[in-house]
This record gives sequence, C-alpha cells and structure tokens, in this order.
Amino acid sequence: MANSNYPVDMSVEPEVNAFFDPVTNTISYVVKDPHSNACAVIDSVMDIDYAAGRISYDSADAIISYIKTNDLELEWLIETHVHADHLSGAPYIQEKLGGKLGIGEKITVVQETFGKVFNEGTEFQRDGSQFDRLFEDGDTYQIGKLTAFAMYTPGHTPACMVHVMGNAAFVGDTLFMPDGGSARADFPGGDAGVLYDSIQKVLALPNDMRLFMCHDYGPNGRDIQWETNVGAEKEHNIHVGGGKTKKDFVKFRTERDAQLDMPKLIIPSLQVNMRAGRLPPADDSGKTFLKVPVNGL
Ligand SMILES: [Fe+2]
Repeated sequence: MANSNYPVDMSVEPEVNAFFDPVTNTISYVVKDPHSNACAVIDSVMDIDYAAGRISYDSADAIISYIKTNDLELEWLIETHVHADHLSGAPYIQEKLGGKLGIGEKITVVQETFGKVFNEGTEFQRDGSQFDRLFEDGDTYQIGKLTAFAMYTPGHTPACMVHVMGNAAFVGDTLFMPDGGSARADFPGGDAGVLYDSIQKVLALPNDMRLFMCHDYGPNGRDIQWETNVGAEKEHNIHVGGGKTKKDFVKFRTERDAQLDMPKLIIPSLQVNMRAGRLPPADDSGKTFLKVPVNGL
C-alpha cells in the first residue's frame, strides 16, 4: 500500500489491540509499532457511576496491565475528539505510564463553547494547554519507528481528527461500521454537511486501509465489531456508501439527529474531557463536584 499522497508509509502494519467498554460502547486501542516496543493508546475510558457520583478505573487498569505485561513503552495518548458519551482515562494512564497527551488544535473552540455552558471561571484555560500536543491538519508524529499523521475531520465536533498509523486509521466518530452509518452532528459546533466532507476525506484513503471505530452498538442484534476498511465503507455504509450525495446525507442526518436523546453521560463527559480527562478542581471544602446546567444544553 505505497501511497505518496500521504506522509506515512502505508505498508507498515501496526499491531492493534482493542478494549471494548460495554457500558458506553466505546472501543479503546493500544497500537504498537511493529519495529519497536513503542505504543499509543487511543480513546481510553474512565469509568463513572453517574447516579452514585463514583469514578473508578477498571477500564484504564486493563489497558495499563496490557501495556506492562507486554513490556511496551507508552509514547502517546491520543483523543480523537472531546467525547460526549464517556470520560477519558488518559490522565490516569499517563500518570502511571508516561506518554504525551494529544488532541486536535480546535479543542480551543470546544473549550470556549463548553466553558460558557458550564460557566467556568478564568482558571479554566481555553487554550488547549491541558494537553501536551495540539495537532493541526496533516501533522505527523512518531510512535517509535511508526509514523502517524492527524487528519482534520470536523462535523461531529469541531475538534475531531482521524489518526492514520501505517495501514490503520482510527476514525473516532466520523464513521461507524458500514451497518451503523455515521455519528450525530447536532452537538454545539457540529455540522452534517461538514461531517459529510470529512467522511469523504476518510473514504479517499486507499481501499485496503484498515479502519477502527470508536463506537459500535451492534445494530440489528449483531455482535460488536470495530474493524472494517475503506472499500467496505465506500460500498456499504448505510449513510454515505454507494455514492450517497451530500444533500441526501444532510437531510437524513438532520432529521435523525432531531429525534436522538442526549447521551446519558454528556454532562460529566464534557466537563471532564474539555479538561483533557481531569476532574474539575476541588472547591474550598476539598471536595470535587460536577455541575448540571439546568436547561443549559
Ligand atoms: Fe463522539
């Protein structure tokens, strides 16, 4: 899969291990460079029992234990976007194993929007400084000897990026499995037309590029799956495959989104993920609280 249009060697096959969280239907990944012990973690999860206000780390601990058992060196923790349906486990994993935490540079737009929604004070920086690296479109970085690049794919949120590592691309929420279609585009800063254009960028990758989803809900009762490829999405994706037009997609997506409930964990997820997965600072009692904006979303 040599392809000079892209700044990575697409003949390199990273080893990809998936971790499925059945509570939020999120798939996290450990991606290993085939030529060294270096690895990256993509879209990890911190567990929350929201009803009880209780945070725990079983999902993140499973990833940590995998990395330790296999003697891997964690170089990157990548967030494909600010998730609205689960809390990120990245800072917890970073504390135990090191590595740099990265997200798209447009995180600043998301921080601006939700800084207002949650009425955060000036101590909440809106400049992305909670992260170690803010990726711009086309930026490359190394995971050991493996070159990765970040492709800007807004639409679901303004900060979404797809990360291409050798012959594997981590699509975040730009696409679901072919029978799952696409993610919603109605969050603040989302845009169905922009999402369609971003999906075309993903579909322009080589047909045999492996695509790894961030979510799967097992439509029509099938087992959970997370891997497909560009050719299969182009042909069979129920929302964009078979050459569906932008006009049709925008109409369908807009009508569908109007009927969707808010994700159960959107309120804690945004407050934590806009801080790179860290909880808000403790108040003067030393306790940590999450807010619920009444009629604010
Ligand atoms: Fe998302």
